[in-house]
Amino acid sequence: MTEPVQLVDALKRIEADGLASIEAADSLEALEALRVRFLGRSGDLAGMLSRIGQAPPEDRRAIGQAANTAKRRLQEAHTSRLAALESAESAGVAQADLTMPGRRAWEGGVHPVTRVIDEICEIFRELGFSKVRGPEAETEWYNFQALNIPLEHPAADMWDTFYLADGVVLRSHTSPVQARIMETHEPPVRVVVPGLCYRRDPFDPTHAPAFEQIEGLAVDEGIDFVEFRSTIEHFVHRFFGRETTARFRPAYFPFTEPSAEVDVSCHMCGGSGCSTCKGTGWIEIMGSGMVHPAVFEAVGYDPERYTGYAFGMGSARIAMLRYGIPDIRLFYEGDARFLAQFR
Ligand code: PHE
Repeated sequence: MTEPVQLVDALKRIEADGLASIEAADSLEALEALRVRFLGRSGDLAGMLSRIGQAPPEDRRAIGQAANTAKRRLQEAHTSRLAALESAESAGVAQADLTMPGRRAWEGGVHPVTRVIDEICEIFRELGFSKVRGPEAETEWYNFQALNIPLEHPAADMWDTFYLADGVVLRSHTSPVQARIMETHEPPVRVVVPGLCYRRDPFDPTHAPAFEQIEGLAVDEGIDFVEFRSTIEHFVHRFFGRETTARFRPAYFPFTEPSAEVDVSCHMCGGSGCSTCKGTGWIEIMGSGMVHPAVFEAVGYDPERYTGYAFGMGSARIAMLRYGIPDIRLFYEGDARFLAQFR
């Protein structure tokens, strides 16, 4: 039979032992182990309490009181030590951070194609061109007929077009905005038109089904081919640099006559021929020409009085040349690791 005095003493020893250990606990892990050891369901205190039943009934009161006191003191000690360790731990983290480099704020940037568009518009702004926009959902009339492209004519196949509804397309070039502007403004007209265009093209290294174009249009009395040519040459020198030369190659567009494709000397090889220019020394940058009289008629301008020129270029293609990017898809996939290089 257990002596009551022995049990009370044992409880006091557990209490003293537990209080000392808990005070000395130097980590949250160590403190938790002590809580389990002294206060846990199969801990030391519980072990003692399970023996109360063996004590004589007249002693149980004293033993119970000693046990309750021990439990309360140990719990209080645990609570205060826990608070102390937790605040020390968070203070420690804050202190360690003071020696570490700060986290940089995330910084956005202008998309490289947008940059090229802005730069091109700025060069033409200096020459007196305003920036205008037109709708991406366009009627067949503006996308084709107003531009002297009969729907049944094979020339319409130059633009493999998405149809939204009968007579309504996603514009396959920015040229329809030429007609819209001339319909609503009297000459002189000088505009650049940046905007998205859509074609049923594969998404491959040189094509995207949705892509940016910039259109240019100048109409006035007395605009001749020399003004057209020197304006484009000025643009090429401003954008690509003095050492780059432009060449005008005869081409065909239904809405210009004569028409030309403009090439620039290859920036990679300087014109001697390399893989970028496919050995030719030249890279095509735009379609262009003198506005066809049929377009003036469609918009109500007098073709005897007015002349003008127009051009259209793919902004992402220009950006590929500017930044030496081999695959147009990189511009349209939104990979932050790629785009971050242009900040
Ligand atoms: N719209 C033509 C195209 O998308 C380019 C162009 C514009 C040609 C203006 C001549 C004049 O291919």
